[in-house]
Amino acid sequence: MYSRIRKAIAPALILAVAITASVALAAPQQKSLYQRLGGKPAITAVVDEFVSRVAADNRINHYFSADVADPARLVTFKMNLINQICQGTGGPCTYMGKDMKTAHAGMGITDADFTALVQDLTGALDKFNVGDKEKNDLLAILGSMKPDIVSK
Ligand code: HEM
Repeated sequence: MYSRIRKAIAPALILAVAITASVALAAPQQKSLYQRLGGKPAITAVVDEFVSRVAADNRINHYFSADVADPARLVTFKMNLINQICQGTGGPCTYMGKDMKTAHAGMGITDADFTALVQDLTGALDKFNVGDKEKNDLLAILGSMKPDIVSK
């Protein structure tokens, strides 16, 4: 009698354990880089700081004189950067700007210019205490664009 009950319950128990195990395994959802960075408010704060640093950086600010001179253009430029980073890190944004090759065509950007810009971005990320893992993940995404941006 008991053995019949045990036989009847066993499959249900196995199923319950299997379901619990699969839920437990699936539970630690990997957060996107966008989420780990702190979403759009954090990205916006970093881009604001980054653009201020670029504008004050005598090594490369001559490239951005048209943006600094025109507030509306600067707003559009920042919006493009925010949406590009948001989308590129898995966030719910759509980058509507030019592709990187077209956007930087004919500017004659050098390796040293690129390094200077990355240093300004790193400074902005450090100011907001962005973790090393998040910083390196973001720099890797942006670094992969280098061949389309550097032309000299
Ligand atoms: C990973 C590095 C970089 C990224 C992600 C990036 C991203 C962008 C984006 C999204 C735009 C806007 C495109 C559009 O208007 O549709 C842009 C434009 C521009 N970028 Fe970059 N860029 C990078 C490196 C550089 C470097 C190294 C320089 C020069 C030192 C530079 C100079 C410019 C300039 C002058 C513009 C035009 C801004 C305007 O027309 O208002 N960029 N870039």
